[in-house]
Amino acid sequence: MSTPKNILMLAGDGIGPEVMGEVKRVMDWMNDKYDSSFVIEEDLVGGACYDVHGVALTDETLAKAHGADAVLLGAVGGPKWDDVAREHRPEAGLLKLRKEMDLFANLRPALVFDALIDASTLKPEVVRGLDIMIVRELTAGVYFGQPRGEDIRDGVAYGFDTQIYSEPEIDRVARVAFDLAKKRTGKVVSVEKANVMESGVFWRRVVSKLHAAEYSDIELSHMYADNCCMQLVRWPGQFDVIVTDNLFGDILSDCAAMLTGSLGMLPSASLGSKDPVTGKIPAMYEPVHGSAPDIAGQGKANPLASILSYSMMLRYSFDMGTAADKLDQAVQNVLAHGLRTADIMSKGMHELSTRAMGEAVLVELEKLG
Ligand code: IPM
Ligand code: MG
Repeated sequence: MSTPKNILMLAGDGIGPEVMGEVKRVMDWMNDKYDSSFVIEEDLVGGACYDVHGVALTDETLAKAHGADAVLLGAVGGPKWDDVAREHRPEAGLLKLRKEMDLFANLRPALVFDALIDASTLKPEVVRGLDIMIVRELTAGVYFGQPRGEDIRDGVAYGFDTQIYSEPEIDRVARVAFDLAKKRTGKVVSVEKANVMESGVFWRRVVSKLHAAEYSDIELSHMYADNCCMQLVRWPGQFDVIVTDNLFGDILSDCAAMLTGSLGMLPSASLGSKDPVTGKIPAMYEPVHGSAPDIAGQGKANPLASILSYSMMLRYSFDMGTAADKLDQAVQNVLAHGLRTADIMSKGMHELSTRAMGEAVLVELEKLG
């Protein structure tokens, strides 16, 4: 038996439990086939947690997340909790996990599968072969900056947030981007709005300094966030690794996701820094899509983003590159056979439920051996 890998599974809200159900089956298969010893512990997060405990993440669950070898998250949120105070909203649970685990580097690959080329709203020649890695800073910036809130000043009401970054916060995420680029095509585009924001000027300076000092073999360019959005739909093939702050990364990754045809296909990994004593890297894996409350419980959700997130877990947390390759291949084969969930459905293809899609991946895995 290999050493047990303790996975905390937080399915969350909406379609979260359905898509995680399929991941569980893939994990069971891996345990059987590879003797990989994944031990799953399940717990609540988001609205599901709020309904039971009155908070979106309990201290006990957070402690479990710290103790686990990796966390797999489904999705959080839904209209049911719209009137709940901000600090208890489902999203607050997710943000707390990211912050408390210090998961500063969010890797969001946007990969266009050949079989899905027609699912994109862009022309096939624009998106064919696309392989972009967005590295989003995840634990700082305007998502967490203080002060934030509402105020009355001279009788006028205000709402405000603070965009703030320290040099180490920028440096460490840029490092992740440069290191990834080394294993890819060696190109990084750093994105901010240095034309209007002081923190953007600072971001650019810190990234450039690190580049000059340690990564001059990497081709670095800088781009304003609005231009980057435009370039992503105009000519996405120009990008390899994009590194950007928390808010721009949120926006740009949704945009990049749609190049691939559906948000339902995109996985992500959120990583922290290596513990100098244990060597462990805190990690959480989640699909980029949300909780899709409108289709929850109907078996319509696409489990592939979650299954691909699990594949990222194999690769980044457990050095199981061969197994991850096999899983990615199984997903590609399923798509090549014309099997689709509703979100990526197109003419002449065969529509499957969430469960049947998970099943189809298992069948392909079995074939690959
Ligand atoms: C994401 C989501 C989250 C974010 C929400 C659910 C808080 O949009 O992971 O991209 O804004 O980071
Ligand atoms: Mg988002």
